Amino acid sequence: MRRSTVAALLSGLALAKADANATTSAVNACNQIAQAVSSASAVFWPGTIQYTEDVSHWATSSNAIATCSVEPGTAEDVGQILQILGSTNTTFAVKGGGHATNAGFSSTTGVQIAMSRFSDVVYNNASQTVDYGMGLIWDDVYAALEPYGVNVVGGRVTGVGVGGFSTGGGYSWLTNQYGLTVDNIVGFEIVLPNGQVTNVTEASDADLFFSVKGGYNNFGIVTRITAKAYPQGQVWGGILVVAGDQWDALNNATAKFQAEVTDPKAQVLPTYNLVIGLPAASVLMFYDGPEQPVGIFDDYLALPAIEKDISTRSFLSLVQSSPSNATASTRAVFNTISLTTLTTGLLEAVVNETQFWSEELALNSATFISYDVEPFLTTLFTHGSVQASAYPPTRAQGLLPLNIYYAWGLPEDDAIAQAAAVQSAAQLKAVAIAEGQDIADAPVYGNYAVAGTPVEQIFGDSLPRMRATKERVDPQNVMGLTGGWKV
Ligand SMILES: Cc1cc2nc3c(=O)[nH]c(=O)nc-3n(C[C@H](O)[C@H](O)[C@H](O)COP(=O)(O)OP(=O)(O)OC[C@H]3O[C@@H](n4cnc5c(N)ncnc54)[C@H](O)[C@@H]3O)c2cc1C
Ligand SMILES: *[C@@H]1O[C@H](CO)[C@@H](O)[C@H](O)[C@H]1NC(C)=O
Ligand SMILES: *[C@@H]1O[C@H](CO)[C@@H](O)[C@H](O)[C@H]1NC(C)=O
Ligand SMILES: *[C@@H]1O[C@H](CO)[C@@H](O)[C@H](O)[C@H]1NC(C)=O
Ligand SMILES: *[C@@H]1O[C@H](CO)[C@@H](O)[C@H](O)[C@H]1NC(C)=O
Ligand SMILES: *[C@@H]1O[C@H](CO)[C@@H](O)[C@H](O)[C@H]1NC(C)=O
Ligand SMILES: *[C@@H]1O[C@H](CO)[C@@H](O)[C@H](O)[C@H]1NC(C)=O
Ligand SMILES: *[C@@H]1O[C@H](CO)[C@@H](O)[C@H](O)[C@H]1NC(C)=O
Repeated sequence: MRRSTVAALLSGLALAKADANATTSAVNACNQIAQAVSSASAVFWPGTIQYTEDVSHWATSSNAIATCSVEPGTAEDVGQILQILGSTNTTFAVKGGGHATNAGFSSTTGVQIAMSRFSDVVYNNASQTVDYGMGLIWDDVYAALEPYGVNVVGGRVTGVGVGGFSTGGGYSWLTNQYGLTVDNIVGFEIVLPNGQVTNVTEASDADLFFSVKGGYNNFGIVTRITAKAYPQGQVWGGILVVAGDQWDALNNATAKFQAEVTDPKAQVLPTYNLVIGLPAASVLMFYDGPEQPVGIFDDYLALPAIEKDISTRSFLSLVQSSPSNATASTRAVFNTISLTTLTTGLLEAVVNETQFWSEELALNSATFISYDVEPFLTTLFTHGSVQASAYPPTRAQGLLPLNIYYAWGLPEDDAIAQAAAVQSAAQLKAVAIAEGQDIADAPVYGNYAVAGTPVEQIFGDSLPRMRATKERVDPQNVMGLTGGWKV
């Protein structure tokens, strides 16, 4: 009894001391950074508007109280910052759009780097490419490209950052036509942990080019991406919302869409939501052309809708028809499984999960229980070569990500909601396997996976190449001072 009390006390003291040292070291690092960087960059302390903006995330559970924030304005300054963080052994975070749903992935109690000043979008007509900075959200990229009638492969709903999206994979409205975002990257500028600014292409460094495409912040901080540009005209689509009595018909429509539609310009994103217990499924529809195509969306359009916003419009307008901003500002968890097909049996199991967890988590401040299914063409991974990118680690079969998303109010419910998202994914995976889907070892998408998912499940056979690259470019493991999926 006595011994354990003393031990607890001692370890408590050690912890307090370690924390105090960590803070001292971070304050020191903040001051060194403020001295070292050019006038294009700035350090902000708690209490300033910029600091608050820099540490804010889409999910409040991803927020942390950083010691200071820094907004670098040049790649060279990012190099200075990384060298200081490495030499002072200070924990830090790299935030793009701040949409990570795992705590600590782009937040920290140390130094918060916010990439917001990397906000250029440059269309290069001659090479048919677009350079975009890592502090942007996709809305800004689409808005900048609209006047040129071109587009890049990016996010589907409003507000999402380009940073984690582009370095993680990137499932887009244009994916059936052109692949994932990583499949369309032709080069990037990255600041290596030793401070060196470098332009990376397949030709200049194939291993690093491969590794960053899916490898997030393991190899340095990306400041700019150069991606293929595609012609983009007006599109057709938007959102409709249907009540629970239509969910059987919705399941049928989705199973049929997945089984029968082969036009790569057509996509849907059905999401089964329980909003404080009330069922309201949303269906985002997209067609890459100005007219509603014949037949493809009829079953969805026949559903009596509570809400409907569908029209011929700009790509940006379609992206902004999504309601995602309305559900942010809560705590949140994502989790995922990968499927090969969407049967009505599987969709019924999804509906059952929404109901089960809505009831189960009602006493745990849950406000929003949501499952989206993503009926891409199963050719979606054929737009990159077999060894094109760290994610997906295999392109042997097309995989359709399913996204579980719970939102709730109270920090003390975090562990329960996260455990539920783990259990629900396991349940749906078991249903899919029982119906014969070959997904027992299928990789999962890191941008949807819950913290604690083994990196083997995200990067699979890419890991040896990523680890060798990491050894080469970051022998001191400076990037180990920041969170995320660590190889
Ligand atoms: C509402 C919503 C909608 C979404 N829709 C889609 C979708 O349609 N398709 C899809 O594929 N995903 C989607 N996602 C998932 C999304 O891809 C991830 O949340 C992604 O990480 C967001 O990027 P971010 O820059 O906003 O995130 P952040 O939280 O800023 O960053 C995420 C991770 O990437 C790292 N990172 C960010 N920038 C850099 C950089 N410049 N260099 C190195 N590392 C960096 C961070 O350190 C962190 O570990 C969605 C998420 C949300 C919340
Ligand atoms: C904290 O720093 C002091 C002096 O800088 C050092 O002696 C001590 O060992 C450090 N404590 C921890 C837990 O790192
Ligand atoms: C860096 O800090 C971590 C704790 O944050 C500690 O475990 C590690 O030993 C430190 N490394 C060096 C080289 O000081
Ligand atoms: C863009 O390039 C094409 C040829 O690739 C050329 O015909 C066209 O005039 C260029 N447009 C502009 C605005 O420079
Ligand atoms: C969503 O939030 C982002 C970032 O705050 C903003 O730029 C965007 O316009 C918002 N979208 C809508 C539809 O309000
Ligand atoms: C990277 O390429 C850009 C133009 O694409 C150029 O301005 C920059 O100087 C290059 N950086 C390095 C370090 O070569
Ligand atoms: C869904 O499809 C099944 C099988 O074809 C059919 O029996 C059922 O009536 C359909 N449900 C609705 C609501 O259309
Ligand atoms: C509904 O979901 C719960 C929780 O995953 C599960 O235990 C139950 O078997 C499911 N019921 C049906 C009919 O699928």
